[in-house]
Amino acid sequence: MGGSSPRISRTTLPTVARRDKDRRRGRRRPAAPWAALILVVGVNCALYSLLQSKKEAARLDASLDATVAWRERALAAEETVAALAERLGAPPPPPPPPPRPRPPPIAHQPVHKEEPVSDALPPFYGTGVKIVGLDTCDAYRKQQKPHIRRWAPAGMFNTGTNTLLDLMHMNCQFPDRTGRHGFWQVPWGKHNPLSWRGAHWAPQFQGERRFRPDPLSILPVVVVKDPTTWMKSMCRNQYECRFRHRPSHRSAACPSPVKETQTTMRYQPTKPSFYDSLPHFWRAWNGEYLNSTAPRLLIRFEDLLWNSEETIRKVCTCVGGRPLRRFSQAHGVSKDARLGHVGPVNDRAKALRLYGSEAERFRHYTREDLEYVRDVAGASPLFRALGYDFDVDDALRVGASRRRLRFGGNLSRF
Ligand SMILES: *[C@@H]1O[C@H](CO)[C@@H](O)[C@H](O)[C@H]1NC(C)=O
Ligand SMILES: *[C@@H]1O[C@H](CO)[C@@H](O)[C@H](O)[C@H]1NC(C)=O
Repeated sequence: MGGSSPRISRTTLPTVARRDKDRRRGRRRPAAPWAALILVVGVNCALYSLLQSKKEAARLDASLDATVAWRERALAAEETVAALAERLGAPPPPPPPPPRPRPPPIAHQPVHKEEPVSDALPPFYGTGVKIVGLDTCDAYRKQQKPHIRRWAPAGMFNTGTNTLLDLMHMNCQFPDRTGRHGFWQVPWGKHNPLSWRGAHWAPQFQGERRFRPDPLSILPVVVVKDPTTWMKSMCRNQYECRFRHRPSHRSAACPSPVKETQTTMRYQPTKPSFYDSLPHFWRAWNGEYLNSTAPRLLIRFEDLLWNSEETIRKVCTCVGGRPLRRFSQAHGVSKDARLGHVGPVNDRAKALRLYGSEAERFRHYTREDLEYVRDVAGASPLFRALGYDFDVDDALRVGASRRRLRFGGNLSRF
């Protein structure tokens, strides 16, 4: 008790004295401390909000950088960049300054003649652009306000999703020109099944939860490829898909026998999915998009190759963009050259020859293979809707024909 009373008097005394002094000086005095307090609080608030907005901006930058980095890494990994821009029709580039005069023509040509390259869709794919889902465009535009209409590519491996992305960036404009209307892949991952939508996030969306878009607000544009040529591209470039079970699957005959292409697809390293065969994989993966009740488009790889202008015009209009009047494919080459993937200048001619040749389409397939493809892939309405059906006898005859394609370069990227 004795120790506490002096402390009280020591602290209370000056306070009482100050109060008396203040009272003597009148009422104007208290304004100064209050003003100082308000000033200090105000400055702190301003500093705080400035710091917050700086932090926010840095976070947005980091998120953008991460997206760009991911895109570049993915493009580099797929090694299709230059090929896609060029194969889809960069106009014939100006002849590069030749180190030596051009070799004499014709006399030194290979003995057998190559088929002439045509820019028209080969007749065996029917006529005109084929797109499934154009009837869902109105619903999509009604459901999304103009400033948040967004699209993103999806597709199995080797179907040209990057081509679609580049062509859209070059040829489809949105009224506000913000560049916010496209993602480089659907947020659930462009090669993942549609059923992952909302449940899985592609790496560049995994960081900040609040930067994630509403997955249903994005129109998926799915690129589908003819199963007969797609299986052959899968032989050339398997990515995370494994189906080798026979020695023949390591040879030119791949993927024959098609019936034995049991497929393990690792969408995630720890989550393998299994399919009875490559055509089962094709049917199931594309079938999810086909069956979807939400707006989506399914377009053809073959139309991106031969009917790119009309295809892009339709996709662009569907998502609420405005197709540029002058269709352009040339910029893709220089843009992608930055990534160090400059292909030979005749890539497009090669692709047109490869995919335009019905003999190449059916070469090495047996009757059993072709019937299997028609049975399994053909069980999906998509197979006929996209013009991929064929007559087995005709296909065998054409595939056995002697005409062979010869290419100067390396086709592994197709
Ligand atoms: C799509 O719907 C059809 C008909 O209902 C069904 O048979 C098929 O299994 C479905 N495909 C997928 C991949 O869900
Ligand atoms: C084609 O290119 C790939 C990779 O670019 C290479 O691994 C392969 O050996 C090449 N093939 C030929 C026949 O040059």
